[in-house]
Amino acid sequence: MENKKYNEEFETIVGDILTHSEFLKLKLIEHHGNGLYEHSVAVGYHSFRVAKTLGMDYASVARGALLHDFFMESWQGQKKDSKGIQRIKDMHGFSHPKTALINAEKYFDIDERQADMIVKHMFPLTPIPPMNMGSWVVTAVDKFVAIREIVFERSRPMRRLKGFLLKA
Ligand SMILES: [Fe+2]
Ligand SMILES: [Fe+2]
Repeated sequence: MENKKYNEEFETIVGDILTHSEFLKLKLIEHHGNGLYEHSVAVGYHSFRVAKTLGMDYASVARGALLHDFFMESWQGQKKDSKGIQRIKDMHGFSHPKTALINAEKYFDIDERQADMIVKHMFPLTPIPPMNMGSWVVTAVDKFVAIREIVFERSRPMRRLKGFLLKA
């Protein structure tokens, strides 16, 4: 019952993102055995729960976290022609937070704190640390969710958010 209340609140806060035609394209991208859409929903939902527990601005964290991997191109098998330092910068792990930020700013109204959540979520792979608590929550939750997806591949952990996942 308690979970249902949280699910509904989360869906109210981020429903416009979950049903946006560009965000729905994440369903086509594979990520740790699940789709990138489900991964993003899991990171958004758990970040929302952590932020709420810690008395933070959970609505802001939920939206920033949901958009942290908002990129549409599959990175597996991606070839880069660059060399040296540029080659490292072009590698998916380094480049996708910036791509996600560009897309988030293009399709949604995000503020500076949410931009930081998105662009810093790969810390410490990307060396500049998060600038606010919400960003620390997102980077920690992203790693937790990714490890869980790798261990329980195709476990589809967010099935209980049936409303949006099935309708979308
Ligand atoms: Fe990411
Ligand atoms: Fe992620």
